[in-house]
Amino acid sequence: MTPARFSARPELKTLKLYNSGLILADAAARAKGRRIAKLASNENPHGPQAAVQTAMQDALARPFLYPDPSARALADEIARQTGAPESRVILGDGSEDLLNVLARAALNAGDEVVTLYPSFPLHEDYATMMGATVTRIGLTSSHEIDIDALLAAAARPVRMTLLANPMNPAGLWLGPDALDALLKAQHPDSLLCLDEAYVEYAAGPDYASAADHLAAHDKPLLILRTFSKAYGLAGLRIGYGISNSDDVIHAMHLVRTPFNTNAVAQAAALAALTHKEGMAKAVSSTLRERRRMAEGLTDLGLHVLPSKGNFLFVDCRQPSVEVADRLIACGVIVKPWKQEGYETYLRVSVGLGWENDQFLEAMARVL
Ligand SMILES: Cc1ncc(COP(=O)(O)O)c(C=O)c1O
Repeated sequence: MTPARFSARPELKTLKLYNSGLILADAAARAKGRRIAKLASNENPHGPQAAVQTAMQDALARPFLYPDPSARALADEIARQTGAPESRVILGDGSEDLLNVLARAALNAGDEVVTLYPSFPLHEDYATMMGATVTRIGLTSSHEIDIDALLAAAARPVRMTLLANPMNPAGLWLGPDALDALLKAQHPDSLLCLDEAYVEYAAGPDYASAADHLAAHDKPLLILRTFSKAYGLAGLRIGYGISNSDDVIHAMHLVRTPFNTNAVAQAAALAALTHKEGMAKAVSSTLRERRRMAEGLTDLGLHVLPSKGNFLFVDCRQPSVEVADRLIACGVIVKPWKQEGYETYLRVSVGLGWENDQFLEAMARVL
């Protein structure tokens, strides 16, 4: 039968499907029985601690009930820990859901969105989906964030400035002074959204979360965070936003689906926030391993960008799609970067010790 034809909205014409990477089963088929090191999606392979597993089991006992549409217990705890009022906390089905909700709540066709480049693709895609134009602030020739260009762009009356801090995929970050300068430069008519998906890995005197500025800042600010990374709950899909603006949060509530976070994810996230010891241990192990991996890659003669995330961005000096393909045969999945200008870079997540060993050995072999 001839497939039925349908024309999607013209804004979708330039979009590409999200590169979500190989699933384990497909990689296993190509790796001929080798154990797979899954280092493509910046997950936390240590997983959540026992108290979180117990909370999930308890929540599973009542699957016939709809979840709390406002996730009140979890929102209260987020408010308590971040200092944002409970009314300015919003939950999402992963923070990618909140990026989508934000785009639909805030963007009109023709609006301008400023972002850092190389970028987290969804920061650009959801803007494009709404017919907005994206202005990319690229790195300097010495692979640093171009702070001057970022400040100049944010000072214009653009609709939104949206960037990840730390950046994905580059791993670079805005230090406290740069963040202060960005908050000062922000045009009062534009929304500043800082995606802090990797904040738990970034702690230290050279990093500052925008959450510390939320109460005092007088221009619209939204911070997005997730339980998918350090908290080890990527499979459950839950993230949150906090803001200093009732208008931003209200617009997002109007646009989100009413039951956008499920009951198991809500229970797990609440337990994860109240039992952080396992997360803290996993983060320290990741930071140790990140240093070891960066040294191993540098020893192979490769250029590795400094990173505050649970991943590294590496220039392989040859098409990274081909390198990634050869790595799969060695039982390692990484993410070859495909954005223009970065086709020789791959992003590798920091995994467990054996996974990182397998990656380093495979890199030595395939390069
Ligand atoms: C910068 C950034 N933001 C948001 C997300 C989405 O995370 P999630 O939807 O799992 O919360 C990711 C995932 O990799 C990310 O790297």
